[in-house]
Amino acid sequence: MTPDTPPPKTALTICGSLRKDSINEHLRRHMSAKLREAGVIVTDLDLREFDMPIFNQDIEDAGETPEAAKRLAEMFRSHDIVLIISPEYNGGVTPLIANLISWVSREKPNPFKHAVFGIGGLSDGKYATVFALSHLRDSLSKIGALVVVEEAKAAGFTAPEGFEELDRRAYDDTEFVVLRAG
Ligand SMILES: Cc1cc2nc3c(=O)[nH]c(=O)nc-3n(C[C@H](O)[C@H](O)[C@H](O)COP(=O)(O)O)c2cc1C
Repeated sequence: MTPDTPPPKTALTICGSLRKDSINEHLRRHMSAKLREAGVIVTDLDLREFDMPIFNQDIEDAGETPEAAKRLAEMFRSHDIVLIISPEYNGGVTPLIANLISWVSREKPNPFKHAVFGIGGLSDGKYATVFALSHLRDSLSKIGALVVVEEAKAAGFTAPEGFEELDRRAYDDTEFVVLRAG
């Protein structure tokens, strides 16, 4: 790296499913690998390590905001890219992602105004999480986030055998856009 070379970009990747066989976790890992190939320094987040109760303003008013919310907020503020991969639940994002956004959105300064946000998701149905991502884009935009136009999404997945299979099927018969990393 010469003095003129900009420092590498950093990214945080998050999956909105804790299911052990989550197809969205496959996509998150795949996207992390793509970002690394592009020279980005990636932090793979495991939301199991950020346990938070369902948001309730009484908890906040009692000064008991979970420490995980503060850690997440700081991570959002310190990475160049935040990539959220979420399954679609009833046309929206999962409670895990909605809860995360609720808690983190209460932190100051606004943790959503630093990074560029990428969004994506996999569905075993035919609509490729389009409704969930539409909600997610709208919600993130309303709290000040810049969300890139490209989305990493695909439909019809049941049990991806591995990253190679996921990649090939995605390109063959669904829309799958690799996010630009910079
Ligand atoms: C409560 C619930 C609601 C769901 N709603 C939708 C939906 O609206 N659209 C859709 O495509 N899939 C829906 N699904 C199916 C999920 O896409 C599927 O379970 C997927 O595998 C979940 O992602 P994961 O494998 O990463 O956990 C729903 C699943 C659950 C459990």
